Amino acid sequence: MDLPRSFTIRESSHRVHNPFTSNKLAILGQALNPPSGTRMLDLACGTGEMLCTWARDHQVTGTGVDISTVFVGTARARAIELGVADQVSFLHGDASNHVARHPVDIASCIGATWIGGGVAGTVELLRRSLSRRGMMLIGEPYWRREPPDQATIEGCHATSENEFLSLPELIEQFGELGCDVVEMVLADQDSWDRYVAAQWLNIRRWLDEHPEDELAAEMRTELATGPVRHVRYQREYLGWGVFVLMNR
Ligand SMILES: C[S@@+](CC[C@H](N)C(=O)[O-])C[C@H]1O[C@@H](n2cnc3c(N)ncnc32)[C@H](O)[C@@H]1O
Repeated sequence: MDLPRSFTIRESSHRVHNPFTSNKLAILGQALNPPSGTRMLDLACGTGEMLCTWARDHQVTGTGVDISTVFVGTARARAIELGVADQVSFLHGDASNHVARHPVDIASCIGATWIGGGVAGTVELLRRSLSRRGMMLIGEPYWRREPPDQATIEGCHATSENEFLSLPELIEQFGELGCDVVEMVLADQDSWDRYVAAQWLNIRRWLDEHPEDELAAEMRTELATGPVRHVRYQREYLGWGVFVLMNR
C-alpha cells in the first residue's frame, strides 16, 4: 500500500501537493486563527505542511494520515525541522476509514476526496471525527469555466464533465449536505503554476539523474506534453479551493 513512485518524483520539491502556495495555506490559518491547543486530523496529509506550519504558527496539535511512505517520512522530518514534533504525528495508512480516537476541532481532507468516494462521502467521513462546533476543511476542484469539449475534460484529468461542479454548484452541494460554508481560500492561476509548473523541473532533473530508470520513458512523455496540457486546459478551466464547513 503506497503511492505510485511517479507522484513522489514529480512532486519531490513540493511542500504543498495542491494548487495552493505556502502563503495561501498561511492565509487560511490566519483566517481560522485556531486557538492554541486546537486538535486537528488531516486525512491524506501529504508531507504534512498544514499541520506542521499551523503547529508552529498557531500551536495546534494533530495527526496526519497518508498512504505514501515517502510523504509521511518527509512530514516527520518537517515536524522536527520546525520544532513541532511533540505537537503533531504522522501515520502511514489508508485514510478512507480513518476516524479519530477522540473528537477533533478541525478535520480535513485537502485535495483527496476520492478517499470518501467524493465530496459527500468525505464530509460524512470527517464528521465521524468531529467535535461539536468543529470545522471541516475540504480541498476540491471545480469548473472555473464550462469545458467546451471532451478534450478539455480529459485535459483536466476528468473523464466526464459531471466529475466536478461549478463553484456555485459546489457551494450549494455543501449546503445540501447540511453544512454552513464559513470560510474559503481559492487557488488562482499563479498557485496552479506553483503546483504544476514546479513538477516539470522536478521531472527534468530526475530524468537527467535517472535516464535508465523503468519510469524514464513515461516521465519523458509527461514532460513533453504536460506544459501545453496545463496552459491549454487545467490552468484555464479548473479552479480549486479549500472550503471550511461547519455542521448546521
Ligand atoms: C493531492 S495530494 C494532497 C496532499 C495534502 N493534503 C496537501 O495538500 O499537500 C493527495 C494525497 O493523498 C494521499 N492519498 C491518496 N490516497 C490515499 C488514501 N487512500 N489514504 C491516505 N492518503 C491517500 C496521497 O499520498 C497524497 O499525499
